[in-house]
Amino acid sequence: MENQAPDAYESGMHSARVRFAKDPSLGTILAAEIDPAFLESFLIHFSALGVAMTEPVEDWIRRAGARCEEIGLNELGQALRKHASHEAGHHHLMVQDTRSLVSRWNSRRPFPLDADRILAQPLTPGVRMYRQLHEDVILGGSPFCQLAIEYEIEMLSVQFGPRFIEQCVSVLAPEIASSLTFLREHVALDVRHTRFNRQELEKILTSHPKFVNPLVETGRAALHTYAAFLKDCLVIARMQVKGMG
Ligand SMILES: [Fe+2]
Ligand SMILES: [Fe+2]
Repeated sequence: MENQAPDAYESGMHSARVRFAKDPSLGTILAAEIDPAFLESFLIHFSALGVAMTEPVEDWIRRAGARCEEIGLNELGQALRKHASHEAGHHHLMVQDTRSLVSRWNSRRPFPLDADRILAQPLTPGVRMYRQLHEDVILGGSPFCQLAIEYEIEMLSVQFGPRFIEQCVSVLAPEIASSLTFLREHVALDVRHTRFNRQELEKILTSHPKFVNPLVETGRAALHTYAAFLKDCLVIARMQVKGMG
């Protein structure tokens, strides 16, 4: 029965994962009949707003690791601190993708966009919620819950990343793939990161079965805030495409 606690985490997350998979935003993004300009604008804002959700990741994991050590979870703390550097600089990919998507857009569409302005736009409610969730976890009494955020979010790259890239290629054009460096790299990288997260979750839940409740609560919040981020990107994209018409 040594897998009981990890199983309790997986079953605790089941309904939230199903809810995410059925989220209307995800359905809109992956719909075969989506308007190409709308999808392209979504991609631009996904990349630009994603910078503020990606740049702090290395620091979040490192700080969560240090806090775990503070509360006596030395093994997990050390593993997180070691793992943190694997997230260094990934936001540069999103900045680069934003710029190349905008220049592609400007070369083909009558309504020009300004990449600097898009990158400097204020953080949306979903982005702020996502960042706040990390701060609450790191500063709170259960910093090990950082693991649940990483597990759920990095699993999204593995689970939905390939379908999303395929959607962009089929609705836009095959060469769009060269502007999706963040997504393409993460589909591959996050397979390894998800394995790391799962192993660490199994270890911590085996030694501390009672951690399952805060972990599930945080995992659910991670999916909820990520869905809010996707919705924000869709709202902005819809306004932008409407403004062109
Ligand atoms: Fe990353
Ligand atoms: Fe990762």
